[in-house]
Amino acid sequence: MTQNELKALVGQAALKYVVPGEIVGVGTGSTVNFFIDALATMKDQIKGAVSSSEASTLRLQALGIPVFDSNAVERLSVYIDGADEIDHQGHMVKGGGAALTREKIVAAQSQQFVCIADESKLVNALGAFPLPVEVIPMATARLVRQFAAMGASAAVRMHDGRPLVTDNGQHILDVRGLTITDPVAFENQVSQWPGVVTVGVFALQKAQVCLLGTAQGVKTLAF
Ligand code: 5RP
Repeated sequence: MTQNELKALVGQAALKYVVPGEIVGVGTGSTVNFFIDALATMKDQIKGAVSSSEASTLRLQALGIPVFDSNAVERLSVYIDGADEIDHQGHMVKGGGAALTREKIVAAQSQQFVCIADESKLVNALGAFPLPVEVIPMATARLVRQFAAMGASAAVRMHDGRPLVTDNGQHILDVRGLTITDPVAFENQVSQWPGVVTVGVFALQKAQVCLLGTAQGVKTLAF
């Protein structure tokens, strides 16, 4: 199976976690796009969605799924999103699509995080994928030096020759050369650096379930 076929498989499989009559938390990315397309087939059974990005909002609305402001919703039963890496404890690296801040906000208001991913995303230790960190632009140079002091190399993510601007009006650093042995400690540490909006390690808001697309079908990992 191709990677896209695996993504479509887990996008479809995630439907069984959607609670009829409720609002569902929806992530961002190519895997989630397959989930959104599948969700449209049961749109009459849900109230709508809270979305983690402008891109997902547009896709949801185009398919006739109402999108609610996260402030208007106290709790969500489930948040469904992809990952760039997921380890065997459910810790993730996210933000390849630059939506990590809103993803972490929606994850925080959800009782259960269901990660949907193809098997290439399962890793023994986080850090091979360049770690996305959303930053306030005036702090960029100092944060690059702080990552260098850790032995890592951070670079501003570019788009059409300029720094990419997130949905929140900030920039993204992609950090290479990290070995993240303790994801909770790492997330706590980097989150406190002035100028960091969101670090792309999701350890405090880790997944409870991962639907992993494999050549043998969808495997369910529970953490
Ligand atoms: C976006 C994300 C995505 O979940 C992550 O990048 C995975 O994307 P894809 O499903 O396209 O591989 O964190 O910010």
